[in-house]
Amino acid sequence: MDLGLAGRTALITGGSRGFGRAVALRLAAEGAAVALLARGPEALRETAAEVAREGARVHGAGAGCVLPLAADVTDDAQLREALARTTAELGPPDLLLVNAGGPPAGNFADLDLSAWEAAYRLTVESAVRLCRLVVPGMVERRRGRVVCITSVSVYQPVENLMLSSVLRPAVQALVRTLSLEVAASGVTVNAVAPGFHLTSAVERLITRKQEQTGATREQVIEGWTREIPLGRLGEADELAALVVFLMSGAAGYITGQCVVADGGWVRGTF
Ligand SMILES: NC(=O)c1ccc[n+]([C@@H]2O[C@H](COP(=O)([O-])OP(=O)(O)OC[C@H]3O[C@@H](n4cnc5c(N)ncnc54)[C@H](OP(=O)(O)O)[C@@H]3O)[C@@H](O)[C@H]2O)c1
Repeated sequence: MDLGLAGRTALITGGSRGFGRAVALRLAAEGAAVALLARGPEALRETAAEVAREGARVHGAGAGCVLPLAADVTDDAQLREALARTTAELGPPDLLLVNAGGPPAGNFADLDLSAWEAAYRLTVESAVRLCRLVVPGMVERRRGRVVCITSVSVYQPVENLMLSSVLRPAVQALVRTLSLEVAASGVTVNAVAPGFHLTSAVERLITRKQEQTGATREQVIEGWTREIPLGRLGEADELAALVVFLMSGAAGYITGQCVVADGGWVRGTF
């Protein structure tokens, strides 16, 4: 299927590792130019080189420009500068992935107000910031796809993830409401809600669990997969395939939705 993404410009936040990296690799393979944004310059450089190689592998030398941008999604000035560089070097973004690290784990009793404020800035405010910066240009050009990465916590509270379970639904409400406001321009706004996937974040979680409990890597994973009807964790590239489809021309009639990719973990009927 031709996804119609060749020559498009993508801004991928949280782009150096995990889901963001996987989406960037797939977009490069589709012939899109990719701006990758994350804080740590080293992982950013490595991933940018990988993404450039992937574009060249599929499309030959010279194809698929990649622009690494060291910035924090919670910092307005840094985001403005990143968008200005993207626009100057690759053109205005047609595709936006709203993504970063998740808020920290913890139960209600563990979290003070400063943890709530920081999680709001990272999870909700950064999505608002990015959409404020990028969506008006998309509307003006009457072309654009926004995809936000949220979590299954939108549908079902996750044990020990109080911050995610409370704040992610707000991002879905933003997606739904914004999608209605911009629909007349043909711009779509959607979310994907992943369950457990093997990304660098989950690898860190596995290591921490091993240290805390003395369990083996296999035992930690087995504990999680018991709750997953498909009996395994997802791969980052599987979620990336879904995101890239939602960004494609083929998904032009889908907006305001949240697509769950969780191996069947969420038990609700809808
Ligand atoms: N993996 C899962 O199973 C899973 C399940 C449900 C939901 N999610 C959610 O999906 C999102 C991505 O998760 P992941 O597993 O791909 O995480 P990951 O492997 O840790 O990757 C996170 C990426 O975001 C960047 N990042 C983090 N904080 C940032 C900030 N303030 N500004 C800019 N970039 C930032 C990281 O680079 P730097 O640290 O260098 O900035 C990295 O590139 C998170 O919100 C997570 O909670 C993940």
